[in-house]
Amino acid sequence: MIEFLDVSKFFGDHKALDNATIKIEDGTTIGIVGPNGAGKTTLIRLLCGILKPSKGQIIIDGMDLQKHPTEIKKIIGYLPEEPNLYERPKAGELLEYFGLLYGVPKEKINQRIDELLTLVGLSDRKDWKVSSFSKGMRQRLAISRALIHDPKIIVFDEPTMGLDPLTSRKIRDFIKTLKKDKTIILCTHYMYEAEQLCDKIAIIDKGKIKAYDTIENLKKIYIKEKTFKIGLKNMKKDILDRISLDKNLKVEERGENYLVIKARDYEDLNYVLREDVIYFEDLTPSLEEVFIELVGSKND
Ligand SMILES: Nc1ncnc2c1ncn2[C@@H]1O[C@H](COP(=O)(O)OP(=O)(O)OP(=O)(O)O)[C@@H](O)[C@H]1O
Ligand SMILES: [Mg+2]
Repeated sequence: MIEFLDVSKFFGDHKALDNATIKIEDGTTIGIVGPNGAGKTTLIRLLCGILKPSKGQIIIDGMDLQKHPTEIKKIIGYLPEEPNLYERPKAGELLEYFGLLYGVPKEKINQRIDELLTLVGLSDRKDWKVSSFSKGMRQRLAISRALIHDPKIIVFDEPTMGLDPLTSRKIRDFIKTLKKDKTIILCTHYMYEAEQLCDKIAIIDKGKIKAYDTIENLKKIYIKEKTFKIGLKNMKKDILDRISLDKNLKVEERGENYLVIKARDYEDLNYVLREDVIYFEDLTPSLEEVFIELVGSKND
């Protein structure tokens, strides 16, 4: 379990993290989302022991991070926002260096390197110099570096930023395989990625945690109305009249043989759905709408 207890971080007068309290259960994947400059990387760097809190406590597996930094660093793997890799060594040599630094036994290191390079799809690049790697390859190598000591907590700061859709998908698929037995903290700007991978999301804005919950609950709380598109064989006048008088429903769009209707839930549409329905689509907005609701301009 990871616990942030009233953690604040100041840079000079600027409060980058403001009284953050958050508990992360073992084995869960947590998404950290929020606008640029919100404090996501600050939170992550505090968690990895790179920054020290100005106030508050971070407890990991019952240990105070300030008092047990070495033990805790052994169980955390960190992919920074902009990973800095040594250029001169070969990929395998780089991983060997970090593996030994993080205490991987010498006799196990080669097997671990081969396993990891295969998992991230770089097995044929083991003997290539890091300087020859493309951006996507570097990112995958940096992920291997973060995982070399088989940490139980893995922290990814924007793992797919600036990568092509295929490489991004490979990385997401790889993160999915880690979900089985790791605790993962994933900082991302892609709501789709957060929805796909995370059990819970923390939304941060101006250093404050605005919400921390499951995606389902966040949608329930912050998306008050759902939107449905209903294709109807016949647009009967009596149904259209009933809909227009129904205060629970709001017609957003009316086509020749379809309606887009806002409703609290689809139960409110029962009498419409008893008609000759050709198709029924839930167009209810995604986590992105929750994000906009919480950190959008109206909250400025
Ligand atoms: N080392 C530092 N010195 C001074 N200010 C800093 C430092 N690191 C972060 N900040 C400030 O703290 C705030 C939060 O920055 P942080 O990097 O945590 O944001 P972020 O949510 O990760 O943003 P992004 O989405 O752009 O990566 C910003 O105002 C930033 O300028
Ligand atoms: Mg950041």
